[in-house]
Amino acid sequence: MSEALPSRVRVVEVGPRDGLQNEPRALGVAERIQLCKTLIASGVQHLEVGSFVSPRWVPQMAGTAEVLAGLGRPPGVVRSVLVPNMQGFEAALATGVDEIAVFAAASEGFSERNINCSIAESLARFVPVVEGARAAGIRVRGYVSCVLGCPYDGAIAPDQVASVTRELLELGCAEVSLGDTIGVGTPGRTRALWQRVGREVPLGRLAGHFHDTYGQALANVYASLLEGIAVFDSSVAGLGGCPYARGASGNVASEDLVYLLDGLGLATGVDLARLVEAGQDVSALLGRSNQSRVGRARAARAVD
Ligand code: HMG
Ligand code: MG
Repeated sequence: MSEALPSRVRVVEVGPRDGLQNEPRALGVAERIQLCKTLIASGVQHLEVGSFVSPRWVPQMAGTAEVLAGLGRPPGVVRSVLVPNMQGFEAALATGVDEIAVFAAASEGFSERNINCSIAESLARFVPVVEGARAAGIRVRGYVSCVLGCPYDGAIAPDQVASVTRELLELGCAEVSLGDTIGVGTPGRTRALWQRVGREVPLGRLAGHFHDTYGQALANVYASLLEGIAVFDSSVAGLGGCPYARGASGNVASEDLVYLLDGLGLATGVDLARLVEAGQDVSALLGRSNQSRVGRARAARAVD
């Protein structure tokens, strides 16, 4: 167990994908491009732009190729997309994206509902995807969902998380993000999870991905920092939810994450004021309230 905080933290902005994929109102291509551009202008350097999944399953992500085309290649920015299979990979490859992310789960129930196959089948499907990406010089990220609980299978054994994580790294993923998909984790269980997974793989290759359903996401980030984790996924304005878990809320809000990290003196390269503006803009566009506490507080101050 480490108590020293990392000196620099990388924030992976997943709002245009994890956030928008779960919003009842689908944004158009031009609106999605605008959101990505505003996020990049605020200093975001690692951006999940969308996904190449079945539009029947996730209609909000249709048009990701057009979003990437409109975004171009902003210097210094890693543009990432989710792909579930070779069909998605071929589509991603044609766009010249910088990174793809394959996504597995720690629970069989979630794997079946999310990608219509078992965990073992999903890992087998990823083999040619990862090989193809690496041959093309594209970085590969992996995800493991439901690491702290599953809406179908309930409690998840940390051993199971460790095993799927190791398999994704062995497949060739550069980094694996562990997702508390339904936001049920607490800091104690989060620390215990990192300690268990850290016995199996280097913690420096892992990222934390916390949803905020029970209001524990920031506390879980802090618990993860204490364990040496230095990469976190977050979503501007706390966008999103989980279509497979009623009542589940979006990712930890990027504004809240950056405020926490700024307060700890940990550099992220992201300008909080500009990020808050991006969060306000997209919340207005979606006709929903801003789920970022920092975003709401700053916005209220701006109009005082
Ligand atoms: P399937 O129905 O088993 O696929 O779905 P299939 O291979 O039998 O094909 C059926 C149809 O889908 C065919 O079309 C294919 O062409 C099409 P048809 O002939 O019927 O017209 N298809 C595709 N279309 C576009 N892009 C593709 C693709 N593949 C097949 N890549 C599949 C399997 C994986 C496609 C489906 O289940 C799917 O798209 N699932 C995506 C689910 C998803 O995106 N979930 C959200 C992301 S995961 C997440 O949010 C968690 C995370 O944030 C971390 C966390 O919080 O824990 C990452
Ligand atoms: Mg997620």
